[in-house]
Amino acid sequence: MKRRLNKIISSMTLEEKVSLCSGVGAWNTIALPAHEIPSIMLTDGPHGLRKQMGAQDHMGMNQSVPATCFPTAAGLACSWNRDLVERVGVALGEECQAEGVQILLGPGTNIKRSPLCGRNFEYFSEDPYLSSELTAKHIKGVQSQGVGASLKHFAVNNQETRRFNLNVVLDERTLREIYLASFEGAIKQAQPWTVMAAYNKINGEYCSENQTLLNDILREEWGFEGFVVSDWGAVSERDVALSAGMDLEMPGSNGVGSEKILNAINNGDLSEETLDSAVERILTVIFKAQENIKHQAAYDPDAHHRLAREAAAESMVLLKNEDQILPLRKQGKIALIGAFTKNPRYQGAGSSRVNPTKLDNPYLEITQKAKEAQFKYAKGYSLETDQINVDLILEAQKVAKESEVAIIFVGLPEKYDAEGVDRKHLELPNNQNLLIEAVAEVQKNIVIVILNGSAVEMPWLNKAKGILEAYLGGQAMAGAIADILFGDKNPSGKLAETFPMKLSHTPSYINFPGESDKVEYREGVFVGYRHYDKVEIEPLFPFGYGLSYTTYEYSDLSFNHKEISDSQEVIVTLKVKNMGNRAGKEIVQLYVRDNESSVIRPVKELKGFEKIELDPGEEKLVTFTVGKRAFAYYNVDLMDWYVETGEFEILIGKSSREIILKDTIVVNSTVELKKKYTLDSTLGDIKTHPIAVPFISNLLAGMGLDDSSNGGPFGMDKDSLLNSIKLRNFESQRTMPKDMLNELLKGLNE
Ligand code: BGC
Repeated sequence: MKRRLNKIISSMTLEEKVSLCSGVGAWNTIALPAHEIPSIMLTDGPHGLRKQMGAQDHMGMNQSVPATCFPTAAGLACSWNRDLVERVGVALGEECQAEGVQILLGPGTNIKRSPLCGRNFEYFSEDPYLSSELTAKHIKGVQSQGVGASLKHFAVNNQETRRFNLNVVLDERTLREIYLASFEGAIKQAQPWTVMAAYNKINGEYCSENQTLLNDILREEWGFEGFVVSDWGAVSERDVALSAGMDLEMPGSNGVGSEKILNAINNGDLSEETLDSAVERILTVIFKAQENIKHQAAYDPDAHHRLAREAAAESMVLLKNEDQILPLRKQGKIALIGAFTKNPRYQGAGSSRVNPTKLDNPYLEITQKAKEAQFKYAKGYSLETDQINVDLILEAQKVAKESEVAIIFVGLPEKYDAEGVDRKHLELPNNQNLLIEAVAEVQKNIVIVILNGSAVEMPWLNKAKGILEAYLGGQAMAGAIADILFGDKNPSGKLAETFPMKLSHTPSYINFPGESDKVEYREGVFVGYRHYDKVEIEPLFPFGYGLSYTTYEYSDLSFNHKEISDSQEVIVTLKVKNMGNRAGKEIVQLYVRDNESSVIRPVKELKGFEKIELDPGEEKLVTFTVGKRAFAYYNVDLMDWYVETGEFEILIGKSSREIILKDTIVVNSTVELKKKYTLDSTLGDIKTHPIAVPFISNLLAGMGLDDSSNGGPFGMDKDSLLNSIKLRNFESQRTMPKDMLNELLKGLNE
């Protein structure tokens, strides 16, 4: 392959090579028939195909060919089911093959920094580990079909406000531990064919022109082998972008970008080798795509619809089930309320919009499932406006009063979950909140179904007995809702994001969406549950939370080692038993807590999860393998992941706030951190260094203090005293000759 590529590249003119680095139309690369280079097609993604045959646009405005609309990532993530996500990926890959698409623009693995982000429905989680694990499976599934994935939006693209020119300012540890980690795991595990460079800047540099991000981190550190494509229109200075490792500009820029590359090469500002490397990476993917084309490919839309239904059912989260109101009996008088019942919200707005092969309807699915029940419907609110309509509310009250139970469909209308805009608040439209309050006046048995792309506030929480979070569940969502409401499926989703009580509790509240064209991530690594844990705020529903129609018991936590080095792994096992009389699936979560750390760390972090299926009464052994990365933080001096020697706790939970089992392990670092000592170091900094120990003991003894005393000035304890004395003080107070001080520093730094 390499030789073939070299041969082709050396036979291409400079102009031809440059032309390959820029798109043709909205969705294609250029074909160069003289060199037998075909054009390939890249289209959205991520949860369904959006292949446009007619007018092209990258905002999801014009029609595309029919394709299966799977649940959006926000929902799919709540399945915590790696295999299921991979199967959805396989189906997406099959549809790409059938439609002659070579690269699917997805998945999106950006972290949900704020629930306000209008594109959260396209992203998996607030947690980088969960996000990267599921992202990797999505990519593997798609690519198993000989179709490339395009992992997006690299990187730190966490809001829509001013998305084209936003400068995200954040520190290196936060970048590595939260925002890049979600990409890193996915790239290392699944090697996507392409990565999409985001619109925004990071610390002043556009992602598409960012040498550190693209060449140093993505390629050198993580070993990414594919090509980097720009988000649509994300390139400013094409020559700078090319030298930073941004290979393909999409869509084309009417020759402007190519001209900049040619000028830079002719001026000697850009080397032809840099261009050749980009061309080689693009050609490698083009030929791989070409070799993998399945010419007669077709897919079974019904089978994919069934998979979409299975995925939707596993993605939904049962948030509340007071008095076991769910599952409902398939009999009696049931009120179905809310415009979404007949006209559901099932996907987000923007470039990911899919033209579904078919669309299930909640009203029909529910009424057909419970044929013996008597249903009454009321619209309750209008989808066109948030204004309250008294007549609709009165009608809903009447219908609810005449029934034994009221199912109310609420959610976010399209303008709330949309690419290009962020929400301003976390409330449902006023007319929906008021409807629930009004129905609660006449009916005690209320079940709420929420259709939304991200967390909402629930002021009516205490008025509803049952709450089912259905997210934007795709074209087969309605059937899945009916399956869960009537118990044909046991809910098994758990939240992949925290639901806050109110907006002001969210970690980025003060700094979202920033000022002017800049946003500072001042909350640092404290994103999602890391924040709520640390500041001890009770969320509405915590990360990892979700109910089932059965219950599970956890027992017998054990480790194969109680002490390891950071180059070893520990095998953690426990037993989980289904205590109820229904089969179900449980998501077991493993968190790690660093008991003592010299850097500021979260209370705990998710480092493992398994989803297991259990029959009534069945018990299974769950195993986790936990290695260095689970205990490490990103050490900015070392520029690497580092484990600080000490005790860690391994916590096993049903959610981030319901830890059932825990035990301690000691992890020893194999890396020695070299500290740099200067005249500004304090005695506290050097106190454990072997050559400083006798010096400090003598000094303390000279002051009449020993190890245990608190006899410093103002009763200061020994440590505070040592931390308040700089080495420089010995120089300024002439208490130590300069030579001796230099000798001491030399010894400390050796
Ligand atoms: C979006 C991408 C999308 C692309 C092509 C951009 O505006 O940010 O996610 O893949 O358009 O439609």
